[in-house]
Amino acid sequence: MKNPFRPSFGLNPNILAGRAGLLRGFSLAFAEGIGAPLRVSLLSGPRGTGKTVMLHHIESLAREQGWIVLRAFPRAGMIDNLIDPTIANALAELDTTSIPLTRRISGVSVGGFSLNTEMVTAPQSRKTLNTQLRALSHAVSKHGAGILISLDEVQSAQVEELAELATAIQDLIRDECDIAFAAAGLPEGIYALLDHPGTTFLRRAEHIQLGKLSSEDVKTSFVETITSAGREVTKDAVEEATRIIRGYPYLLQVVGSLAWAAASLENSTTVELSHVHSIADDAQLRMKTHVHQPALRKVPESQRNFLHAMAEVADGETARIKDIAQHLNTTTSALSARRRALLESGIITAPKRGELEFSLPYLKEYLQSDY
Ligand SMILES: Nc1ncnc2c1ncn2[C@@H]1O[C@H](COP(=O)(O)OP(=O)(O)OP(=O)(O)O)[C@@H](O)[C@H]1O
Ligand SMILES: [Mg+2]
Repeated sequence: MKNPFRPSFGLNPNILAGRAGLLRGFSLAFAEGIGAPLRVSLLSGPRGTGKTVMLHHIESLAREQGWIVLRAFPRAGMIDNLIDPTIANALAELDTTSIPLTRRISGVSVGGFSLNTEMVTAPQSRKTLNTQLRALSHAVSKHGAGILISLDEVQSAQVEELAELATAIQDLIRDECDIAFAAAGLPEGIYALLDHPGTTFLRRAEHIQLGKLSSEDVKTSFVETITSAGREVTKDAVEEATRIIRGYPYLLQVVGSLAWAAASLENSTTVELSHVHSIADDAQLRMKTHVHQPALRKVPESQRNFLHAMAEVADGETARIKDIAQHLNTTTSALSARRRALLESGIITAPKRGELEFSLPYLKEYLQSDY
């Protein structure tokens, strides 16, 4: 039997946990019309919370309603790349690229008298994102559909290009075109986007913060993923798996996949508690190499010290900023820049005033280990 779990970034899970309400909201937004708030959405969340998966689902919902989906890629040249080939291809598919012929003056000899004309292709005014999006919008509107622009990994895009994209979208919305924009990224990318003076219109966007799944959602998805692939799972195995998963989408796939494999090794058609127990350390190791290490790679020394202090004074996953300052022999105000940077990178969150929480499960344990 094939393992039904998908412990890999960017891969849709077989059973999506806990996002049904949000997806219903997007379906309605595409159907509703101009002014539906979710038509301009920013999804943020720490690594592995399911941003890419949500974007995939949002794209599918748009396509189901006949919309054209344009994927923007967050590297230098994003705008040029959108104009050609992305929009150019979409236009070609809709067969609207035939350019009318016009008559233009082709030769004026300086100081001379000849003035002749010839048939040429229409003057191609410089193709901008705005003009090309308008052409596409005009073409799709004939089919009663719209355009969704999706952008993943916002933090990797250049802010000036994001501003240009935002301006074009805003301009089309003003002219009542059916256009939607969904972007996803780490919190720092979303904040950088919102801080730029050229993107003020995005400050009114729906900001969706993807976080933990509820225990109930984890359980339902865990059980359904296993049973729909032809195996059983015991109740205590589900409880233990849920405890290890801590509401974190990536771990749901990792724990499921490893427990399934442990059952396979024993030729068992039931996933049992012993299988889940046997893979707990392997799951944590996966977190270390695929989540903690990459998340901390670019974190400067001073912020790491902050995190280490936080791990030391934390009660469970949360710590008081006052205690962190005390541990570091400093004041809370001296820590504010580091605190802010870590919040923006999505490594920690601030659930309450004066309190901070690790947003990545097992990060505290990782920081307390000798790596
Ligand atoms: N709602 C969900 N239910 C079950 N599994 C999920 C859910 N969302 C995501 N996953 C799983 O979690 C893992 C991470 O998902 P995804 O790649 O979308 O995260 P991400 O937030 O985009 O991470 P990154 O910040 O690294 O880009 C994948 O294995 C995916 O299948
Ligand atoms: Mg992603």
